[in-house]
Amino acid sequence: MNQKDTEKKLAADKAVEFIEDGMTVGLGTGSTVFFAIKKLGERVKQGLKIKAVSSSNASTDLARSFGIEPVPIEDAGVIDINIDGADEADRFFNGIKGGGGALLFEKIVALNSKKNIWIIDSEKLVSRLGKYPLPVEVIPFGYKRVLDILRKYSPAVRMKADGFFKTDSGNFIFDLHLNKIEEPMPMDAELKQITGVVETGLFIDIADTIIIGRKDGTEILNK
Ligand code: A5P
Repeated sequence: MNQKDTEKKLAADKAVEFIEDGMTVGLGTGSTVFFAIKKLGERVKQGLKIKAVSSSNASTDLARSFGIEPVPIEDAGVIDINIDGADEADRFFNGIKGGGGALLFEKIVALNSKKNIWIIDSEKLVSRLGKYPLPVEVIPFGYKRVLDILRKYSPAVRMKADGFFKTDSGNFIFDLHLNKIEEPMPMDAELKQITGVVETGLFIDIADTIIIGRKDGTEILNK
């Protein structure tokens, strides 16, 4: 396993230690969460009883492959602990998410959760957000107008080999090249007031705990 994956796994395994019998657990999305779902699956096999809520089709498939059957969010009630990754996080518990395109459902799962734990490798902890392109979810209908409004932020419509990248809700992702975000809150508000923008990848003040994988262990930041 390479250094980055080792850090991701260390952070993920540590997060799963917070899960107790009877809890409802949010499953984020991405390559770091992969390790958490795998670990959770191992604990479920050993007898841990949980209810899981998934934030994407990909994580639902993954959970099933590890013996966990997610319940619909509508039937789950309040989620006790949500474990998710991030593309960037700062020490003010703000972050950028959506590199995998699951930001909308991830935010909904996060907002339904009592405690949000982010698991990241050490490179993702930054002093200022924005180097990572900010994903914004946009409705396809009339998207060119939104693209035009966002022109100053050098938006790139996310593509895949055979056409537009589509989220689980069938929307597009625009990746904004901001380089640095001085103030996340007004940036988020500016984007969200554009008709056609569904959600942004700015997660402000949502994480309660950030677990950073380091080469020889983990660092835990608590709000
Ligand atoms: C998915 O849309 C994202 O928000 C992920 O949570 C984030 O991109 C982190 O993914 P990795 O763990 O794969 O880096």
